[in-house]
Formats: sequence, structure tokens, C-alpha cells
Amino acid sequence: MENMVTVFLFGKKYEVPESLTIMEAMEYSGYQLVRGCGCRNGFCGACATIYRIAGDRELKACLACSTKVENNMYVATLPFFPLVKEVYDIEKVKPTQQIMMQLYPEIYSCVGCNACTKACTQGLNVMQYIAYAQRGEYEKCAEESFDCVMCGVCSSRCPAGISHPQVAMLARRLNGKYLAPHCEHLDVRVEEIREGKFEALIENLMEKPLSEIKELYNHREIEA
Ligand code: FES
Repeated sequence: MENMVTVFLFGKKYEVPESLTIMEAMEYSGYQLVRGCGCRNGFCGACATIYRIAGDRELKACLACSTKVENNMYVATLPFFPLVKEVYDIEKVKPTQQIMMQLYPEIYSCVGCNACTKACTQGLNVMQYIAYAQRGEYEKCAEESFDCVMCGVCSSRCPAGISHPQVAMLARRLNGKYLAPHCEHLDVRVEEIREGKFEALIENLMEKPLSEIKELYNHREIEA
């Protein structure tokens, strides 16, 4: 019999096996996850979660799909956080410092509390990438924020009301469109796809059983 731990999901007490992730513990306890659950593997950011261990004052943030339960864990999920999302035409905006001032002026109200960095479920230096965005250093901002999964936990903790993931998204778009070196082999590959060069291959793949597709995926060629 596996060791059990006590967890509190949305304030209600459950006994669950200690080997489970928070997401698995929810399902084990009878919750059907229709929101706050996507890739189940730490990539999509849909399962942002905050928790506190009884007796500990620190409020922690994590991804429910990639974090194991702990005894006396009090859990609340954050399936959506209302970020400020500005609409712009990437063909028209340019990688100037003014564009951040215009679209996301609140970044200049950062008080340097570092709560965003402490809350990041990916362990990113969020305050640092906002500092790069303030200075119009979009390549650095794009690099520093590259692993952001847009879960929004950083913004939930920000006293200045900054929507960090959207700021970083703008920086990555500006970087991709205007600053990063042009990638010629990508152009070639896109053209090949447009010409239908891989249609037969994809059709063929889609007819294979799942086990064979998994096998092919696990032994695919990976560029060094
Ligand atoms: S479900 Fe996608 S990151 Fe957790």
C-alpha cells in the first residue's frame, strides 16, 4: 500500500498517494479538469497553482502537472489570470524603446520588489527581463524570457500591475521579426511545406498506429 499524504484542494481535505502530482491528486480526488489543464507536461502554463504548506508562511507557486503533492499542502489553482494584452500590428510596430512606453507604460512603475521573479513557476529572472524591456533591449528580454509559459503568476503578485508575459511576448516578436539574424534554411523549409513536399509523408504517418508513431518520435533524428 502506497504512503498517503493529506492535501487540501480548494479548502477540502483529501488523502492521496504521495507519488502523485497535484494535478493527478485532483483527479484522484474526483475533480474533472476542464480548465487549468492542457499539455500535462510543463509547457502550456494552463495549470498555474499556488499553495502553502501548513505552518509555513511562504506562499509558493508552481505548475500542478509538474509538482508532486506534499503533506499538509493547501492548494488553489489559477486557470486564468487577466493580463493586459495590447493589440498591435507587428508589421507596423518597430523595435524602439517608445513602443514599450506606448503599449505597456506600467513597466516603468516597477518598484523592484522582485515578487515576479520569486513567483515564477519556471524559475525565470522576470524582474531582469522587465528591466531589459524598459531599456528597449529586446534581444536580451527575448532570451531571458524564452521559457515563459504565460501562466500569469508573476503578474498576480505585481504591485505595479505589470503584465510581464505579454511584455515578454512583444519583445520576442520584435526580436524575431526585426533583430534576430534571418534564417535562410527556415525560408527554404517553409517553401517546401507550401509546395506540398511533405504531404505524402504526413498522410503516411497519420495512418500508422499510435505505438509506431511514438517509436518513430523517440528515435527521430535530432540536429546536433
Ligand atoms: S498542463 Fe500544461 S503546463 Fe501544466
